[in-house]
Amino acid sequence: MKAAVLSDHDKPLSIQEVDAPLPRDKEKLVVMHAGALNHRDVWIMKGQYPGIKFPSILGSDGSGICDGEEVIIQPGFNWGSDQNFQDLHYHILGLPRDGTFAQMMSVPSENIFPKPEHLSFFEAAALPLAGLTAYRSIFSKGGIDASSNVLISGIGGGVALFAMQFAIKAGARVYVTSSKQEKIDKAISMGALGGVLYNQEKWSKQMGELSKGIDLVIDGAGGPGFNELLKCCNPGAKMVVYGGTAGSMKVSPQLLFWKQIQINGSTMGSPMDFQNMLNFINLHQIVPVIDSVYKLTNINKAIERMASGQQFGKILINCSNL
Ligand SMILES: NC(=O)c1ccc[n+]([C@@H]2O[C@H](COP(=O)([O-])OP(=O)(O)OC[C@H]3O[C@@H](n4cnc5c(N)ncnc54)[C@H](OP(=O)(O)O)[C@@H]3O)[C@@H](O)[C@H]2O)c1
Repeated sequence: MKAAVLSDHDKPLSIQEVDAPLPRDKEKLVVMHAGALNHRDVWIMKGQYPGIKFPSILGSDGSGICDGEEVIIQPGFNWGSDQNFQDLHYHILGLPRDGTFAQMMSVPSENIFPKPEHLSFFEAAALPLAGLTAYRSIFSKGGIDASSNVLISGIGGGVALFAMQFAIKAGARVYVTSSKQEKIDKAISMGALGGVLYNQEKWSKQMGELSKGIDLVIDGAGGPGFNELLKCCNPGAKMVVYGGTAGSMKVSPQLLFWKQIQINGSTMGSPMDFQNMLNFINLHQIVPVIDSVYKLTNINKAIERMASGQQFGKILINCSNL
């Protein structure tokens, strides 16, 4: 079979002929239709991720056919028994275990879930990692309710867009930030109430006027601009941080303690979060936002698009039509 293989740091993926996987105990073979990129793949290719090994087949998201059924893959392994945090042995599909950028893969049967019927293979492949992360951030950690004013940063991102779709369906009032006005406009066309450009000086003032204060922040960027998010918060607000695309953050202790703000970290989600996320997607017939679709043989172009932050939504890989 063909697969996109990572052979060294800072090198493009190469399309290689590799042995088809042989399912081990309690595993099943999935014939892949689609995969999806996550920022994790970019970090790994830049050498900025723990436990990198060569050669590796990347890819944490996928949909395909297993035993004649249409399926998607839950990308987390060994969550453990505590809903509050994952076990030490928790790991994610696509490193160290070979991932979805291939024509076939072998996965434990407990990680195989029915594909939502209202979604195509591409739409379904967009779902697992980003949808799970967004679901846990918004509901399990964020405790959103219909009275919440929610701010979601970097709305072009895969997780951010799911967080916005979930928050809107939960009845909350949603505001966004982005580097580009056109992405804010797209978010508004999907139901956000407004947005500001995070690359402008002191943008929190504008957000304050627009939103009259934020109760829940969902952030995947961190970085030097983090205090602007704190400034947008109402007293008693909650922040959920699931990523650090913009690097280490500077936190003003005064803003934090005076407004009694709670900052929570969130990573991926438990199998229960995954099932709840699928139930929510099915209940509300949510369709993931697809930015673009690339053939497996053009995967490096897809990676470049994500690394340069051009996307609005998920970047998909066609694994069956090379
Ligand atoms: N904890 C977890 O389990 C988990 C799971 C998934 C992802 N992550 C992490 O979360 C981050 C996002 O992942 P993703 O796959 O959604 O990535 P992605 O699709 O590549 O999205 C990244 C987005 O970050 C936004 N961004 C960049 N600099 C920013 C800044 N200074 N302030 C606000 N937003 C900024 C951009 O938004 P605009 O395009 O709108 O400017 C960009 O689209 C990554 O760091 C990833 O490693 C963590």
